[in-house]
Amino acid sequence: MVDILREGKRRVIVLGTGGTIAGRAEAVGDNIGYTAGQVGVTELLGGIEAPNGIALATEQVAQVDSKDMSFAIWSTLALRCAHWLAEPDVAGLVITHGTDTLEETAFFLQSVLAPSKPVVLTCAMRPATALSPDGPQNVRDAVAVACEPGAQGVVAVCAGTVHGAFDVQKVHTYRLDAFGSGDAGPLAYVEEGAVRSVRSWPASSSQEARGRLERIAGAARWPRVEIVLSHAEARGSLVDALVRERQSGAADPVQGLVLAATGNGTLHQALEEAALRAQAAGIAIVRATRCMQGRILSTPNALLRDAGALTPVKARIALALELMTEQPAVG
Ligand code: SIN
Repeated sequence: MVDILREGKRRVIVLGTGGTIAGRAEAVGDNIGYTAGQVGVTELLGGIEAPNGIALATEQVAQVDSKDMSFAIWSTLALRCAHWLAEPDVAGLVITHGTDTLEETAFFLQSVLAPSKPVVLTCAMRPATALSPDGPQNVRDAVAVACEPGAQGVVAVCAGTVHGAFDVQKVHTYRLDAFGSGDAGPLAYVEEGAVRSVRSWPASSSQEARGRLERIAGAARWPRVEIVLSHAEARGSLVDALVRERQSGAADPVQGLVLAATGNGTLHQALEEAALRAQAAGIAIVRATRCMQGRILSTPNALLRDAGALTPVKARIALALELMTEQPAVG
């Protein structure tokens, strides 16, 4: 842990996990041919001034391309966040992260921390070595949110826009403003260091979250939950194969399935029949819509439950956390 400046001020801790924001390319003109997760988090803060009365400190928690994010890193990150949030002089946290799975990490952290202080994920679409990198401004904006009075919960800051953990999604492959919040819309904007809120911050519900955090800290392993997509000519064979694997006594058998469903949660009939067989065999099944916006409006006689507004990747995390209550704990 590196304290950059302290002298009795309130602190914002910046936790590094890798991503394009920490990426290096061979040439300054190259915005896409880089290696993510190369530059240390302390170096990423070079030239960024802390707001008045705030000291910045850094901790490198991981150094990965976020496509390779793992449950092990999530567990470590959640525990480091819980540690820092409990320090009375810490105003908030910033997490530098890759854009590709940022929404999953945000949802996971909100589920296990639901903090009453701000935890602000930020990122970049261009590597640190770019001619005109977007990371430094995003970090500066994230620090502004982390020390904003009244801000709380896990949020993401990119291109001057603040998104809530439950709503945020990467919606563009290349644009600097790569995230959206769907129907819900952003929580706030950051303009020249000032935070302009337009919606309320994510709710803090620390007791329920603490139970989840204790479970992940004590879990021998996370329950395996897979995602299967419904599409034209979809088949049930993938689901049937997972059921057979489980019945054969394989190590780490599937315990849950998220079906990425069409529209209002509908499934190709072949996939639905296989899902009902899997459910009868003891696998937890949830339908989540593959639509970018909207939610599944439940129908009264549905045989497979739905994930409401959660995207398939977020529904997978929610189901894994739910199934974890049934996992044996270490020791
Ligand atoms: C990553 O997600 O780590 C790489 C891509 C990015 O950060 O934009």
